[in-house]
Amino acid sequence: MYKIAVLPGDGIGPEIVPEAVKTLEAVGSREGVEFQFSEALVGGAAIDARGRALPAETLALCRQSDAVLLGAVGGPKWDTLPPAERPETAALLPLRKELGLYANLRPAYLFAPLAAASPLKPEVVTGTDLLIVRELTGGLYFGPKKREKTATGEVAYDTMLYSTAEIERIVRLAFTIARQRRGHLTSVDKANVLTSSRLWRDTVERLKGEFPEVTVEHMYVDNCAMQLVRRPTQFDVIVTENTFGDILSDQASVLTGSIGMLPSASIGGVVGLYEPCHGSAPDIAGQQKANPLATILSVAMMLKYSFKMDRAAQAVEAAVSRVLAKGYRTPDIYVPGTSLVGTAEMGALVRQELQEG
Ligand code: IPM
Ligand code: MG
Repeated sequence: MYKIAVLPGDGIGPEIVPEAVKTLEAVGSREGVEFQFSEALVGGAAIDARGRALPAETLALCRQSDAVLLGAVGGPKWDTLPPAERPETAALLPLRKELGLYANLRPAYLFAPLAAASPLKPEVVTGTDLLIVRELTGGLYFGPKKREKTATGEVAYDTMLYSTAEIERIVRLAFTIARQRRGHLTSVDKANVLTSSRLWRDTVERLKGEFPEVTVEHMYVDNCAMQLVRRPTQFDVIVTENTFGDILSDQASVLTGSIGMLPSASIGGVVGLYEPCHGSAPDIAGQQKANPLATILSVAMMLKYSFKMDRAAQAVEAAVSRVLAKGYRTPDIYVPGTSLVGTAEMGALVRQELQEG
């Protein structure tokens, strides 16, 4: 039996998360595993009900669980709060830090039927299957920062601070994952300018001997941004620091048709956290227009990384693939000639394929 903390959050979160929960239930009955779900408040919903974005009981529930399933946080209602109280910064970042989730895995995988939904030409994007391993608890997000008044006006700074130990653990994890995939690792930095990047690059160079099966290449972040749209198929695993990973993963996500397709896993700490890459999409919330596939695919990552249920993870991915092949589309991936469905309908279609497959 596995205990899952369920944090639907804001916006479309409460619509997409139930579809992922039901997917896990379907997997459970297939595989003879029991999943026990406990829900908790996070983000704007928690601010409204408890006065803070990450209530202590939510964090405690996460710590006691075997995995965390998160929807999305944030929305216009809370955008005017001071930065330190906003759902994104007051819930997401402390959740990552408190749970020790230093590794964020963001795959960009093109489901073949969606090639036409990509902004790239089908011949450029076909075959894209990459994984960004983003460092998640260091760098500019968590380094020393300050904003202060001086005689000549305000100054502000954030610090991209990394220790050897922080770089080693994320790089080792990326090498390990690359070894299980196609054996190619691209380490992305800005070593021509940044000191922290030079430590990053030296560390990768020092560790590569431990992983002789993996080929390593260093790439500057600006070049990587260009290569991602020029020839995304050249990448297998990309490892990079927090901010670079934030930016590159948004860019990579849209290559595959829609950010509504992209799952993520945050691991390395006391419990794994799984969430879609997209945000709370307040503009379409409550309308059954949201694509639940990113959250459903996040459940596949949970099965793989938290429960070592690789076969079940593949079954979920295959079910999604078959639903797409049959032409069902939520609005974000709709093209003329396909069948438009809503959030719950898409979830039900995936479960039906799971039961039949
Ligand atoms: C992400 C988001 C967050 C981040 C924001 C909401 C704090 O953009 O998960 O990529 O920058 O990490
Ligand atoms: Mg981001």
